[in-house]
Amino acid sequence: MANLLVIHHSASGGTRALVAAFVEGAHSAESTRVLTRSADVATATDLLSADGVVFASPENFGYMAGSLKAFVDRSFYQCMADTTSHGGGTHSKLAGRPYSVLICAGNDGTGAMYSIDRIVTGWRLRKVHPGLIARRVGGEAGSSRGTVSETDLQAARELGQLFAEGLAIGVL
Ligand SMILES: Cc1cc2nc3c(=O)[nH]c(=O)nc-3n(C[C@H](O)[C@H](O)[C@H](O)COP(=O)(O)O)c2cc1C
Repeated sequence: MANLLVIHHSASGGTRALVAAFVEGAHSAESTRVLTRSADVATATDLLSADGVVFASPENFGYMAGSLKAFVDRSFYQCMADTTSHGGGTHSKLAGRPYSVLICAGNDGTGAMYSIDRIVTGWRLRKVHPGLIARRVGGEAGSSRGTVSETDLQAARELGQLFAEGLAIGVL
């Protein structure tokens, strides 16, 4: 059984809707277990136990959510192995594991996507899907309201299905 982990943060429900759709899609693969963890409580052990991971975040001020950054800050070194006694430096225990990203944004989202891609480079995770940026529609400018479109929810479902099935059959 493969383990697919979703680490998420959502303040006003947009990212949560994307995660729910992703999980719905992922459940179609019976031999992948899907685990969701709030970034507030996620641990390095959660990450080390996962065969694949999806980071889900709003864009806040052009960056990932602070709680997701805090998760990476407190887990980073626990996911690295010290190989200095063998003449090396450190290497990532997560190297090569597949990941992707779900972003919910007001009008952009690229900064949050970039910040996640850049920060997980240190773990040598492997991005197996470009991920999804959902921009809320129908809200007032500058507000966090508006809805996540059905098109974006469907894209999140499809990504969930693709990721879970890819893990289940061992092609990711
Ligand atoms: C403090 C704050 C900062 C934000 N900064 C951005 C931003 O830089 N770019 C953007 O596109 N949307 C921005 N937004 C809008 C949120 O990304 C958007 O409302 C998103 O759907 C929130 O996700 P959530 O509902 O999962 O909390 C910001 C919202 C808040 C509350």
